[in-house]
Amino acid sequence: MSTRRKDADRPPSIPAEQPQREPNLADDVGLTGGTRQSTYAAMRQPRGVARILRNLRLILTGRAGVDRLLMRMGARSGLVASAYYLLFSQAFRREHLAVLSGRVRYSAQVHQPQPGSPLLRRNIHRLEKGLLMVPRRRVFATDYVSETVVCFEKILESRGFLTEADTELRWAHDVLQAYFDAAERDPRTDTARIRFQELAQRFEANPTPLVPCKRRSQEPPPVTFDRLIALARRRRSVRWFVQGPVPRELINRAMKVAAQSPSACNRQPFVFRVLDEEELLRKAVSIPMGTAGYGHNIPMLIVVVGQLRNYFSERDRHLIYIDACLAAMAFALALETLGLSSCFINCPDTEEFETSMAELLTLDSDERPIMCIAVGYADPAGLIANSSKKPLNQLLRYNCE
Ligand SMILES: Cc1cc2nc3c(=O)[nH]c(=O)nc-3n(C[C@H](O)[C@H](O)[C@H](O)COP(=O)(O)O)c2cc1C
Repeated sequence: MSTRRKDADRPPSIPAEQPQREPNLADDVGLTGGTRQSTYAAMRQPRGVARILRNLRLILTGRAGVDRLLMRMGARSGLVASAYYLLFSQAFRREHLAVLSGRVRYSAQVHQPQPGSPLLRRNIHRLEKGLLMVPRRRVFATDYVSETVVCFEKILESRGFLTEADTELRWAHDVLQAYFDAAERDPRTDTARIRFQELAQRFEANPTPLVPCKRRSQEPPPVTFDRLIALARRRRSVRWFVQGPVPRELINRAMKVAAQSPSACNRQPFVFRVLDEEELLRKAVSIPMGTAGYGHNIPMLIVVVGQLRNYFSERDRHLIYIDACLAAMAFALALETLGLSSCFINCPDTEEFETSMAELLTLDSDERPIMCIAVGYADPAGLIANSSKKPLNQLLRYNCE
């Protein structure tokens, strides 16, 4: 297969991920060579220019000094920290906005639930946990089973009829059925029980209901440890790709593996946005800083987007990152089994990055880009980094070792 890299003789340089310089507080007070050098440069300027530059530097230095003081105070007091981020830094503004937008969307979907409803998925998950508890309580879920049945009914009504793709509704139905079969009658759940029985008539009996079951643990695992570690070692960040389309069929298959990943309360609060249309792809690839130097040869970019609409409280806001990354890793390993390679690319939490990505992909206000994944067939001529891994004694600690 031919490659589209312009200069084939050019050794594939692998640039630093974040070509951004770390802010150094020493710079602010003129302690580093960089600041001194600019002082000498200013001395060579005509007097007026030198004075302006000096004043500018004093202003900047003064602000940095105040900033540093507030940072130190804020590091000791939650109140000052909040004031700091309200008055002096906008760094969390987008996160605040997205979290609140997510909570608003969450409330809205409680009244008008859609397939994928976080309330339904979370509550069905909670019912399943109740069913598998040992010992199982005779009465449980009294505080949320009614809202679950209402949510189930609303989605059912909006769908009109069931198709094979409605696994979620089938799962909800089967678990609710198992719950009402198992739980003792209770006045707090009677109305929900009657309503569910009416709704359940629309479902044919499922010979293999989607409910808690015993694991088939007698069977050996389908993959041995040696094969798994070989696969893990085979996956390396690939930044040089053969040019040409990446079959969507393979992406769909890898996504099936990713979909099996765990997620908090089984909400799966993310969507993988796959970009393979040339114009869109090129624009998207140019947004993250971490694609510098090799972005032009990425044949497909996936932007993993977290959806904060899955949470009624900000306490869960980090779950979008955790759940999406668990799925992304499974996805990357699955790609390897299909002959494709990948490289994760950082999504910096900056105004510039997030606004550009949100505009390009018309993201909703509660949607946050979490990471990008470059995908393609590895160019056999391209190098990969050695990326030596830490030894176990740096990664593992048993108890309080
Ligand atoms: C969250 C995350 C962000 C990353 N961001 C970038 C990036 O912006 N640019 C890049 O070239 N590589 C990026 N990488 C790839 C890492 O550099 C790479 O995973 C690491 O050096 C280990 O190498 P390996 O993946 O080959 O094992 C990122 C990886 C992760 C997990």
